[in-house]
Amino acid sequence: MNDDTPQMLSGLRCAWLSSVNEEDIQFVKDGAVVWDETGNFVYVGEWNQRPLNEAIVWEDQRENLLLPGFVDVHAHLPQYPVVARAGHELLPWLNRFVFPAEKSFTRHRAKEHAPRFYRELKRNGITTSVLFSSIHEDSTHECFVHAEASGLRIVLGQMMMDRISYSGLTATQCLTAAIEGSERLCARWHGAADGRLRYAVSPRFAVTCSMELMKKAATLAHQTGAYIQTHLSENREELRVVADLFPNTPDYTGVYEHAGLLGERTLMGHAIYLNDRERKILAASGTKVAHCPSSNLFLQSGVMDWTALDCEGIRWGLGNDVAGGPELSPWDVMKAAFYAHASRAMVTEHPAVPSLARLFHAATAGGAVVLGDGSKSGKLTPGHVADAVLWNTQETLPYGEPLLERPADEILSTLIFRGNRAKVEKMWVQGKRNFDLLDPTIAESHLGDDASQTQSFQSF
Ligand code: GUN
Ligand code: FE
Repeated sequence: MNDDTPQMLSGLRCAWLSSVNEEDIQFVKDGAVVWDETGNFVYVGEWNQRPLNEAIVWEDQRENLLLPGFVDVHAHLPQYPVVARAGHELLPWLNRFVFPAEKSFTRHRAKEHAPRFYRELKRNGITTSVLFSSIHEDSTHECFVHAEASGLRIVLGQMMMDRISYSGLTATQCLTAAIEGSERLCARWHGAADGRLRYAVSPRFAVTCSMELMKKAATLAHQTGAYIQTHLSENREELRVVADLFPNTPDYTGVYEHAGLLGERTLMGHAIYLNDRERKILAASGTKVAHCPSSNLFLQSGVMDWTALDCEGIRWGLGNDVAGGPELSPWDVMKAAFYAHASRAMVTEHPAVPSLARLFHAATAGGAVVLGDGSKSGKLTPGHVADAVLWNTQETLPYGEPLLERPADEILSTLIFRGNRAKVEKMWVQGKRNFDLLDPTIAESHLGDDASQTQSFQSF
């Protein structure tokens, strides 16, 4: 492109709402946002103070509300078909529902389910999702192929387990498959699609992983710069099993510390039953937490002490943990967080209910911080990537009362408690529109019929 070519700018006239910081939100009813060709916001503000630049192509969306895309930091793609199977705690639930679902996640099924799953993420306003796949390298590869086509930001990893697995292989074979598969997938996908896709080395948890596997997983992540994701201290029975398996470590976090799994790019799911020492080493290592309140209620796991994490400066985001959580929607996760922490506050007389602004922050900017992207994504603000979702809020209040006429705190509260009535109309990732309710072809527009065949992946 010639330097003199004028830049094309995209503008939306719409209401918008964004986190400013952990406790403040900003809402503008007659607003405007503009992003440039690189997909970064250049203006976010009032309509009547918008830049008067003829290169801006405006779209009038005054009746709709623009929010930053949700950043969901913990879920399991192959588990979606077994959501909402209540009545069991973690370990029996894994055995009865989750391991069979993951075992049947063949390459063929991944091809079928992954594009549908990503479309569901879009319908729920999620532009960035951190996911576990199954133990299968080929299925995980397929999930990446379709993640690329989806236009979403996806962090994903092949599930690693060797001490206990549903593979039918010996522990040694499981270990080799987990490490070699992860190495190949990480080499192929970490940083692909201009950084939109990233790899997470994904040892399931200390119950199913040998120390040797966890150490090798840590080495792989440190050599490649990939993320690490696992589960920590979710359920009391799980804690007992881990204490039996690793009698010489001081606590659960100590197992991961010994393996070298803690660090700035590590995400621990749950982190409910921690002692002071564990919180101190998580904080000192820069390890992050995925708080999954809907899952923690659903599996009767417990209530994470978010104030104790805050006190140590441990950063946390929100995860739907499907299928531990019964819904993908971040609105449901925020609602569960409010109810969980409110119940805990009533029982313990501990006035520690996170504000709704805090929860919205955790579902957007806080998730970006957890991924190390906080300076460039998660908010509607100039300089941030244009990852944004346009919501139709017409049916959120009774009798069609217009939500956008209400004050900002009421708008947010209505969405958190009745967000299942709001509809995603359009979505952009890096300024590129990839979802339009009225035009379903947009969702998969950059996926050719045989997209997965255009990739040659030699290792299977
Ligand atoms: N701990 C180990 N695996 C899992 C899983 O798949 N879901 C949840 N919620 N916890 C786990
Ligand atoms: Fe999980």
